[in-house]
Amino acid sequence: MKITKHVKWSIWFVLGVGVVVTLLLLKPGVSPLNNSREFSRQAPALSAVELTDRSGLPLRDLAQRQGIRIGAAVRADFYTDDADYRSLLAQEFNSLTPENAMKFARLHPEPGTYHFSDADDLVNFASDHQMQVHGHVLVWHRNLPDWLTEEDWSRQALEQILKQHIFTVMGRYRGQIAAWDVVNEAVERRGQLRKSIWSETIGPDYIELAFRWAHEADPDAQLFYNDYRGEGLGRKSDAIYALVQDLVQRDVPISGVGLQMHTSIQDAPKPEKVAANIRRLNDLGLSVRITEMDVQIYGDERPEAERLQAQAAVYRDTMAVCLAATDCTGLTTWGISDRHSWIPSFFDRPDAPLLFDEAYQPKPAYYALIEALDP
Ligand code: G3I
Repeated sequence: MKITKHVKWSIWFVLGVGVVVTLLLLKPGVSPLNNSREFSRQAPALSAVELTDRSGLPLRDLAQRQGIRIGAAVRADFYTDDADYRSLLAQEFNSLTPENAMKFARLHPEPGTYHFSDADDLVNFASDHQMQVHGHVLVWHRNLPDWLTEEDWSRQALEQILKQHIFTVMGRYRGQIAAWDVVNEAVERRGQLRKSIWSETIGPDYIELAFRWAHEADPDAQLFYNDYRGEGLGRKSDAIYALVQDLVQRDVPISGVGLQMHTSIQDAPKPEKVAANIRRLNDLGLSVRITEMDVQIYGDERPEAERLQAQAAVYRDTMAVCLAATDCTGLTTWGISDRHSWIPSFFDRPDAPLLFDEAYQPKPAYYALIEALDP
């Protein structure tokens, strides 16, 4: 069939419009390095990560070969809204920590009233995708509902509330949650016990009681003490060590210590100090897990590419320390991509602390973990 000049121009016009529309759709989200406040909630154009590492295997397969878990903290709102978020989670991670869905105020907003639906969704997703769940968190001084904090409880009444909470939450997920952060952030920066509703009303033995109740509620779950800035050696990690040593010596059922590892390229703890800290905890018979890792790159004068390489090195070193330890069961990042990190909104400034960028593309930190897992 002979194509007239008019038809040819029409075809070129349609193709041209198509190219422009495609380019507009592929435009990535706002860079966190330029503008922190504008988060694009649009799904990224690419739904699968292009893996270019040597073996081509995702992180979770390499971690499994090494006998450890690679995890991500997951937010129920992102999980519900974004299919690409769910795909990336299932593709790369074999452990999931609910970032907020299992916190006291979320689960137990009124006396005797529990809202389990978000937590249930995450636990079911993990089960459907052969992922372990790391439960977070049973006893913390933050994220408590008003009904709990605004009343002047007796020691006995507050013990009863906490025991009921632990039994109800752990009982619901008994057999489905491998490990729990039982007590979170009970130690202050200088090593003293943090003042909280728990320590002030029940007394310092709220920690021991929580572990004992948790063990009763699910005897098979691993029970963790979890904290931040206690990764290397220093006053805080010494205090955490003394705390868990005392629990172990008195046969309190604690299985391990979570080292959160919220850090930055400027002040990441020295790998040899983290290794020494893990060693002394392992020597007590306790497991260790890196539970909430992210590495801030804000506030450093170097060009972005160099900062991302420095960030990759912190991830690589931390994974290498975990792999070399006698009993380090995994590494979890606090979020999946830079689009989802708690840091920009908490500190009110831009940052890019995770393994994937805002368009869900793997960063140097991702490839550093691939290398560490598959040297
Ligand atoms: O979802 C609501 C939203 O509906 C509302 O409009 C908005 C208004 O502020 O708040 C939203 O909830 C916020 C939630 O994050 C989700 O963005 C809460 O206010 C905010 O307090 C909450 O912050 C969480 C924080 O813990 C406190 O629970 C962060 O996401 C979470 O990353 C952070 O995680 C902690 C770990 O649990 C313990 N270790 C430190 C780590 C970082 O702080």
